[in-house]
Amino acid sequence: MAKPTSRFVCQSCGAITPKWAGRCETCGEWNTVVEEAITARPGPAGKAPAGKGVAFVGLAGSAEPPPRAATGIEELDRVLGGGLVPSSAVLVGGDPGIGKSTLLLQAAASLARSGRRVLYISGEESTEQVRLRARRLGVADTAIELAAAYNVREIAASLEQANDAALVVIDSIQTMWLDAIDSAPGTVAQVRACSFELIRLAKAGKFSLVLVGHVTKDGALAGPRVLEHMVDAVLYFEGDRGHQFRILRAVKNRYGATDEIGVFEMTDRGLAEVPNPSALFLAERRGNVSGSAVFAGLEGTRPVLVEVQALLAPNPGGSPRRSVIGWDSGRLSMLLAVLETRAGVRLNQTDVYLNVAGGLRVTEPAADLAVAASIASAAFDKPTSPGMVYFGEIGLSGEIRQVAQAEARLKEAAKLGFDSAALPRRLAHGNRKLVAPEGLRLEEIGHIADLVARFAPESGSGG
Ligand code: TYD
Ligand code: MG
Repeated sequence: MAKPTSRFVCQSCGAITPKWAGRCETCGEWNTVVEEAITARPGPAGKAPAGKGVAFVGLAGSAEPPPRAATGIEELDRVLGGGLVPSSAVLVGGDPGIGKSTLLLQAAASLARSGRRVLYISGEESTEQVRLRARRLGVADTAIELAAAYNVREIAASLEQANDAALVVIDSIQTMWLDAIDSAPGTVAQVRACSFELIRLAKAGKFSLVLVGHVTKDGALAGPRVLEHMVDAVLYFEGDRGHQFRILRAVKNRYGATDEIGVFEMTDRGLAEVPNPSALFLAERRGNVSGSAVFAGLEGTRPVLVEVQALLAPNPGGSPRRSVIGWDSGRLSMLLAVLETRAGVRLNQTDVYLNVAGGLRVTEPAADLAVAASIASAAFDKPTSPGMVYFGEIGLSGEIRQVAQAEARLKEAAKLGFDSAALPRRLAHGNRKLVAPEGLRLEEIGHIADLVARFAPESGSGG
């Protein structure tokens, strides 16, 4: 009988070492290596029982898309790719307090209202706490079956009897505990073993499993990355605690697109869907101030208009500050260099602050033109024209490059009452004609110097 030994496991990447180290050699993270006990494997080594063998099938066969259970919350269903897929596992990650439990209780209630069986297992809150929340959300009358539990062996015993359930929510995976594993809840070993067991039950049964996972300060899912590989879809619920907007983003989805977002607003009665995010993101925009430009962006299949704000402050001597919220700081440095070198805008003694209003994070290169416009507008203290949207990628030689889905962007701008758009020049080989919505004026911009000329004093034309 081997005596129990321990090993050291990195809580960030799951790497295993025989010795403790302050820094994980595999992923380079500090203070993530913890000791875990090894549980003895059943059966003496070398005498493992022979397996039964697996059944192989051909590729052709019934491949109808799995029937999905729509939750009825459209913003959620779209991110899921049309609803919950039976026998699948979804991980919903996010900062503590961002609204994961609220979202899932609302989704569970909505499914229960449509006559499906829903189990909600909370390892964090007592049944009384969940009931209170349900009352606040106005869903206390739904037939959700609620349990406060964390012992996965006991949960598994119930789930094996619950084959008619459509949805099982586990809130959260970090509080789950399996007695076969000799470490605390929330450690790699526990999270991995508990998820494995729960996912196995979901695959064997017919229900969709939703695991809630907390995210650490630096944005990674607490516990191992391995969890992301085990589930079929990973959704992140994000947003700024200071803002009421919440964005649900798919980062992995075996049954749908990964670039979709769902937009919600946290109200005092739970999460409200935001079917038209552009209107919300632009709601507080004030016209006629310099340093602001509206970007016609795209999130997944959805056009979203957001305001980009730039503030410049003189900083003679010393190294100038560049501070960015909601955009990539490396990309900003590149744009500032292009503005300086290709269009002669002097910014080397200026602090630059850039903000995407409303708490949205923009990742598209198409935002370059709007960012450049907001900076040029701030630099020459001349507002952009209030009815104009901007989109286009900027290359290193200052050229404005084409971006995808121009028509969808223009349509959204027209829908929200904008009257003009600054966009890349149509290329000679682009043989498809761009159809602009009626009443929207297109202003093609070929080079960043042309953009800057709209703001520089010697130019008469408006931005
Ligand atoms: P919660 O769903 O508990 O977050 P998580 O499960 O991600 O930790 O949400 C908690 C926050 O949401 C809390 O700060 C209060 C706020 N909230 C509302 O503003 N309105 C509501 O109706 C509810 C239920 C919560
Ligand atoms: Mg919670």
